Amino acid sequence: MNDVRFYKLLIGVNALMPLGLLLFDWASQRLGPNPIEFFLRATGVLTLSFLLITLAVTPLRKLFGWNQLIKYRRMLGLFAFFYGCLHLITYSIFDKSLGLSTIAADIVQRPFIAIGMIAFALLVPLAITSTNKMVKRLGGKNWARLHKLTYVAAILGVIHFWMIVKSDILYPALFGVVLAASLLARLMWLKRPAVQKAS
Ligand code: HEM
Repeated sequence: MNDVRFYKLLIGVNALMPLGLLLFDWASQRLGPNPIEFFLRATGVLTLSFLLITLAVTPLRKLFGWNQLIKYRRMLGLFAFFYGCLHLITYSIFDKSLGLSTIAADIVQRPFIAIGMIAFALLVPLAITSTNKMVKRLGGKNWARLHKLTYVAAILGVIHFWMIVKSDILYPALFGVVLAASLLARLMWLKRPAVQKAS
């Protein structure tokens, strides 16, 4: 097995580990009195975490020269989408029993749900266009432009999280700081003169 395959396997196993632990704890009734809520919250945090890890790849490459990381970015982004799907499924099927009128009422009464839905909707075209074939079809520049939506999805994800917590803003604030650092690093890089960029 070559290095890239090995690291992909390592990332895959680690990325699925939280899901395995959650399912194990659910099966052994260790998720507390409301396992659906626990699962919903955990998958929300995992979606946002993988989004931020994906967004950290470019700044880490540029700042530290860790160019190999690019080989794992797509995989990390797809794990964000995967946990986003689980989050949506947990909400719409397990929590709301696919009651469309209940979900519609929830969107109106709790705006953070609408923000989450928009964030998830933005992840869909990103996942669809993640294949090599789609990169070719769109052209590198258009593909890169489209994938800037990852930032918008992550910003909405942090807002969604911030709106849920009532007083303890520590965790959404931490996610916000990491996202702001990623954005700032990217902006600083864009402002560098072309000669420096090429080096
Ligand atoms: C598909 C649309 C989405 C819906 C319907 C939705 C709905 C929810 C609900 C009902 C909760 C639990 C709120 C509570 O416990 O009071 C939640 C929590 C959360 N969601 Fe979403 N969400 C969506 C998309 C997203 C996306 C795309 C992200 C990340 C980018 C995300 C990140 C989170 C986070 C971080 C939490 C909080 C976890 C915690 O309380 O510890 N959600 N979401």
